[in-house]
Amino acid sequence: MSMIIPTRPGIRPRCPNFSSGPCAKRPGWSAEALAGALLARSHRSPAGRAKLAEVLVRSRAILGLPGDYRIGIVAGSDTGAVEMALWSLLGARGVDVLAWESFGRNWLGDVAQQLRLADLRKFEAPYGRLPDLRGVDFSRDVVFAWNGTTSGVRVPDGEWIPAGREGLVICDATSAVFAIELPWEKLDVVTWSWQKALGGEAAHGMLVLSPRAVARLESHRPNWPLPKLFQLTNAGKLNEGIFRGDTINTPSLLCVEDAIDSLRWAESVGGLAGLIRRTRANFAAIESWVENSAWVAFLAEDKAWRSPTSVCLKIVDPWFTDLAGERQASVAKALADRLESEGIAFDIGSYRDAPPGLRIWAGATVESADVAALLGWLDWAYASTRAQA
Ligand SMILES: Cc1ncc(COP(=O)(O)O)c(C=O)c1O
Repeated sequence: MSMIIPTRPGIRPRCPNFSSGPCAKRPGWSAEALAGALLARSHRSPAGRAKLAEVLVRSRAILGLPGDYRIGIVAGSDTGAVEMALWSLLGARGVDVLAWESFGRNWLGDVAQQLRLADLRKFEAPYGRLPDLRGVDFSRDVVFAWNGTTSGVRVPDGEWIPAGREGLVICDATSAVFAIELPWEKLDVVTWSWQKALGGEAAHGMLVLSPRAVARLESHRPNWPLPKLFQLTNAGKLNEGIFRGDTINTPSLLCVEDAIDSLRWAESVGGLAGLIRRTRANFAAIESWVENSAWVAFLAEDKAWRSPTSVCLKIVDPWFTDLAGERQASVAKALADRLESEGIAFDIGSYRDAPPGLRIWAGATVESADVAALLGWLDWAYASTRAQA
């Protein structure tokens, strides 16, 4: 059956940046925001340390971290923070690793093939699904990503994590933090990067540690070598300086300035509650459009699993699903390319390992008027792409 091509929408998104990382800069951002950067100065000078500490203080306040949790800046973006945690903390007890999309699978691969932990249980699920959370054993260490950025599947809440646990809960929260409420008391390690929900420059990672994680660091010595970049302790004691802004190695003070700008903006829209509100509004607009669409559906199979930030969509039009796998991938790519060449939406093709479809970032730095403007263009672009395929 042929598809009617809707007329080209009259309104274009003002900002076409819907990438899931690096994500859209905050509304109104320009390079002027970096004018106060402490360039060509030592990050160990009082002024440099004050800038780094400002990132920590503002992040802690916006997120409402428990007072006894540490927060620090580390090298290597979110990947650096996660790997630092895995390498430093694991090995003291068995570990359950959850993986339902690319990033969880990366961490699972690290634990299995790099750290080679013998007492490892894998909880895996294909794109679009969550593994069965009821089987996870919290007397062991647990590793998972709160929001699977490449499948748009997130854990629905923290109810499946008991408050009284023996193992550590290590959570990659890079596409959840500043968008979804996190139950901090149930998490021992939380990581994220600057380039996600607040639209900062990609550079450094953030590492949050509970007192239990600190106790593990001070009592457990991994039986593998740790590079300097991963060393969180000094002679068996936590290196507290890291959590005051004394980074292990040299950070970019330009990126630090940008991170501060993004945090100030977050405060200006009402802090965490405001960020969550903006994210939910963006997601709600996409959700009601999907629910009325004949050609697209959520990749997440259960409503409670749908990510409000990295919204992953699959094409369910029978014309498309009848195509061979390679043709599906090329049509989905042509759809994303068309939106890009029209200047409507950049980088919204699904992740390279995910099923062909679309992935739209809907976090707080994206304006809801831009999401609303995008949706009509998606219908137009799909019908046009299909007609020419
Ligand atoms: C869940 C998750 N973990 C880790 C990463 C890697 O982040 P980075 O490239 O900032 O290290 C990403 C990036 O998109 C992600 O979405």
